[in-house]
Amino acid sequence: MTGLNPICAILIENCRIFFLTSSYLEPSEYLLIEWSGFTLPRPSVGMELSVCSDHRKLNNCLWNSLMHVLTVLDHPNPASFSAAVAQQFMDGAKAAGHSVELADLHAEGFDPLWSMADIDGDRHAATSADVAKEQARIDRADAICLVFPLFWWGMPSMTKGWIDRVWTWGWAYDQLGDPEQSLQRPRSGVLLIPAGARSDEMENEGYLAALETAWIKGTFGYFGFSPRKLEVLYGSTGSLKRRQSLLDKSYQTGLTLAPPQRAK
Ligand SMILES: Cc1cc2nc3c(=O)[nH]c(=O)nc-3n(C[C@H](O)[C@H](O)[C@H](O)COP(=O)(O)O)c2cc1C
Repeated sequence: MTGLNPICAILIENCRIFFLTSSYLEPSEYLLIEWSGFTLPRPSVGMELSVCSDHRKLNNCLWNSLMHVLTVLDHPNPASFSAAVAQQFMDGAKAAGHSVELADLHAEGFDPLWSMADIDGDRHAATSADVAKEQARIDRADAICLVFPLFWWGMPSMTKGWIDRVWTWGWAYDQLGDPEQSLQRPRSGVLLIPAGARSDEMENEGYLAALETAWIKGTFGYFGFSPRKLEVLYGSTGSLKRRQSLLDKSYQTGLTLAPPQRAK
């Protein structure tokens, strides 16, 4: 490779900056160059990260890392710690270049009560309008983050109802073929869970292992979240310093969000 054309695209991913350019000799070949300095780079062969000669591969390596991220918040109080966690996570995701969308379930008045209409809907493949709206949100998301406070070592009723009603049989999963295989495409999944307890309390009593099994192996595996991560924000009712460190962690989680695993 002896020369480079002008840069034709810039990509920012997890605070790393990439430039896309094509070579003079082989215009169908593209170079992805990482820039980590403080002045504009003079592209050189030594800076080359990867060469893509196939447009589909190029799109994969460039744009798959930028995601549309849906954050689902369950808290009635806009001034709550959980709301602040959701905001920090979204700020981090935006700083990484992702687009963000918030489903604020209480503010939007989502009805979490599973009902006869849902049962009939399942039976006749007639999804009710509020469930269809949530499913459309999920359809356009590449990554999903759920934020809810830990209640009685489990989910508050709003999140539970949102999952029961929205992630329906035949749409999210069917258990007819491989029970490990979701009907949904893989999505990066994160659970940010403020909890009053300390980490040693949750680990020693087995609560953390129970949640890992029920949520990470179970529920969110069924929904095709891959990779998936449970981040319990211990001591959420503690000191200001403690709470600030949890907010910083939430921001970092958004900033360093992993891309979805490729579909098999
Ligand atoms: C009904 C209820 C149940 C709770 N159950 C638990 C629990 O099982 N384990 C725990 O660590 N904290 C528990 N907590 C504490 C909450 O997780 C904590 O208050 C919350 O994370 C604080 O965040 P917020 O200000 O956004 O509500 C509970 C709180 C309430 C109100």
